[in-house]
Order: sequence, then C-alpha cells, then structure tokens
Amino acid sequence: MSETRGRINILLIGGGGREHALACAIARSARLDKLYVTHPQNPGIAGLGIAVDVPVHAKELYRAVQFCEHKQIGLVVIGPEDPLAEGFADALAAPGRLVFGPGKAGAMLEADKAWCKTVLREAMVPTAEGREFTDVDAAVNYAASRSEPPVVKAAGLAKGKGVIVASSTAEACDAIRRIMVDRVFGDAGRKVLVEERLSGREVSVLAITDGRSILVLPPCQDHKRLLDGDRGPNTGGMGAFCPSDAIDEATMSRIEREILVPTVDALKRDGIDYRGVLYAGLMLTPAGPKVLEYNVRFGDPECQPLMARLKSDVVELMLGACTRTLDEVDVEWDPRPAACVVLASAGYPEEPRRGAEITGIEAAEAMQDVRVYHAGTARDGQGRLVTAGGRVLSVVALGETLAEACERAYAACGKIRFEGMQMRRDIGSAVAAGRTPAAVHRA
Ligand code: AMP
Ligand code: GLY
Repeated sequence: MSETRGRINILLIGGGGREHALACAIARSARLDKLYVTHPQNPGIAGLGIAVDVPVHAKELYRAVQFCEHKQIGLVVIGPEDPLAEGFADALAAPGRLVFGPGKAGAMLEADKAWCKTVLREAMVPTAEGREFTDVDAAVNYAASRSEPPVVKAAGLAKGKGVIVASSTAEACDAIRRIMVDRVFGDAGRKVLVEERLSGREVSVLAITDGRSILVLPPCQDHKRLLDGDRGPNTGGMGAFCPSDAIDEATMSRIEREILVPTVDALKRDGIDYRGVLYAGLMLTPAGPKVLEYNVRFGDPECQPLMARLKSDVVELMLGACTRTLDEVDVEWDPRPAACVVLASAGYPEEPRRGAEITGIEAAEAMQDVRVYHAGTARDGQGRLVTAGGRVLSVVALGETLAEACERAYAACGKIRFEGMQMRRDIGSAVAAGRTPAAVHRA
C-alpha cells in the first residue's frame, strides 16, 4: 500500500490543545507531505496546516469524504471523542486511506459507559461494581439501598462532567433525578450508572493499539478539578504530567496484563476492529488498579506532555496502528519528565469569558524546552490574540526532574497574561505534597 511508504497527505480533525500538540508532532514527521486541518480558528493549528475548505460535520460527511478523495488524503487523524462516536472513522476510511481512531462501535467504550461496563465485566477487567438503569425509580431505590453513597454517572458523552461522586445518599439520589428527569446532560442521561466509590490515586494509562498488539505509553496524571488541592468543580483538565510518579514497573505490567490486553481481546472477540488510542482512566485501589472509565482518544491535556516527550515519528506510530504493524514500530521517549499547566479563562468552567487579549506567548516559547499549545484562542478583528474558550493555552515544559519541569512550566506561565487568567498552582505536586512516590515507571 502506498501509505506504508513515502510521504502522505494527512487530515487532522479537531481544534483543541490536544490537536495543536498532535499537529506539531505530525508537522515534524518525515512521512508528511501536506497537513490539512479542520480547525484553522485555532491560531496554533492554523500556522501548521492548510485549512479544509468544506464543512466537516456528521450530517454532511460525504463532503469530507469528497475532500479526502480530492486531496488524496492517506491518513485521517481524529482527535476528539465526538466525531469518533459519530462514526467519522467508518465513513472516512477507504482503500488507500487510513484512519487513526476507532469506528463507531469501538468508540462506544467512551460514548456508552453502560456498554463499557458490560465489556469490562465479560472480560473480567477490574472495575467498580455497580448497575445501570433506564428507570429513575429503580436507580434511586438501588442508590438508597447501598451502604455507602455511590458514584452516579450519565452513561453518554457529557464533556467530562457527567460523573457525580456523591458525599451522601441524598446527593446521589438527587444527582440521579437531575440526570434522568431534568436531563442536565441532555440525552447522555437516558441511562445512568450507579456504582461503588473507589479510593486511591488516579492515573491515566494510554495505549496505542492496532487491534491486536498494544503499545503502552508512559503513564500520565491529570488534574481535573479547577482549584488547588483538588477542590472546586470538575473541568476538562487543568494540567497534567508525565510520567506519573504513582506507578511502578510492576503495576504497569499488571495494568497491561489485567486491563489493557483483556480489553483489546474482548473488542476483537466482539468483532470490533479497534485502531487508535485506548485510554484507561484508572484508580490505584488497595486491591489493585481498577478502571474508572475508558476514553477512545488521547487525553486533553495528557496528550500535550506525551507529545513533548515523544522522540519518535508520531505518524509512523499511527500508521503502525492503522496497518496492524505496530509491533514493528520502535518508539523512543525523552527520558525527562514533562509538565503541562492549563491557563483558563475567567468564568471557566461555567461561563468562560471571551475576548480578553493574550500577551507573552513568544516570551514563554523563547524559554528552553517550553511549548505553548493553543486551545481557546482566536484572532480578533484587529489581529490581536484573544481568549475564545474555557481552556485557553497549555504550557508544557520538560525538565531533568518533575519538579524542574513544573518550575519551568510555571516560569513560562508567568510571562503570559490575560485578564482573569485562572491556573492551578499545584500541578505535579503529588510529590511535593508528600505522597510516597513509587519507583517511577521509566518509559
Ligand atoms: P470519569 O469521567 O468516569 O473518569 O469520572 C470523572 C472523575 O470522577 C474521575 O476522574 C474520578 O475522580 C471520579 N470517579 C469516577 N468513577 C469513580 C468511582 N467509581 N469511584 C470514585 N471516583 C470516581
Ligand atoms: N484529561 C481527561 C480527558 O481527556 O478526558
């Protein structure tokens, strides 16, 4: 196949910080001919690719297919979960055109948490025990019958907000009603999961799979809450670091053996051809690692520190996944840890303020081993860079130690200004906070 040799044209779908980091990595690839992008509104992405001149959305996917034919796209890379859940990968794949990212059936692992639980149970993958409901009274009765307040989850896609870790049974029952009756997360709340609350440290372990073999990436940790000390509302992620200090080699191989491999095998048994990223959100419980959720794409912001550490050609990895030759691809990581601090708008996550002028990115990027990725930014009528969303920028730095990476990332953040800027000041502080770090997993 032509796409296994030589240069290819690539289409990148998505417009956040994750996709800017992917675009940078793709732009460095020796395999790239032309990079086309669906989100040139993101000024970082716009500087790296050619804007796609047709709308790319679920209702008119034939136009994206025609575009791919016309521009001889050899590889489509799908960043976010929504297009994966909507079946973009199925529609865009064609002879001579590969797609990195699972089809609609595989994407259900993230888009339908109830189905995901079934897969996990059948594959005997450790996860929180619980039940799913389509009937509100049955769900409330079950929640009330449990000895501890349970965790309540909308089964569908809810932009990372559909999980309520209740501190009382009454709060759990209230959450069930808000999800199922008030539909605060829309149709994502047609079904709910009511499950056991797990405790332990959280870690994100991402793997790339070609449907048979898997390549486990170095473990990451993200910080989902808005405020220092893991307080405040859940967000898309306020920062991340890689590798996580929470995991040692033995736990990593256990995660691979007991969680990732059985999941990929279960998908294969179900006839699902899964090629892309399998992201396990895990809790390291006293009884061992357990799955909180699966995502079917790179994490945002986990992707940013991962890409900062990836020394190999990301396109080779993606092509390996797409052509079932992942086991032939060598992967090399920068041994230095990477930290990523997210700068968010005033009002995030409820009502992010738009239009605040951003300065200082050049000064931040002039620092050694610092990268700044755009997410919620835009150019205004006068060409000024302004805020245009909740998570505005991801500031990533490498350092000899995690502490140095964090220090450097914060020094870079100090050069960037916009009105109302929010950031957590304790990214990477698992170590500083005195949690006993396990021997760090070496990528
Ligand atoms: P999820 O979107 O499923 O990753 O859930 C969001 C967050 O809710 C996770 O990062 C955890 O902090 C928390 N969470 C989810 N499920 C559980 C659980 N069963 N027990 C405790 N915390 C949970
Ligand atoms: N960082 C969490 C996520 O991407 O879902």
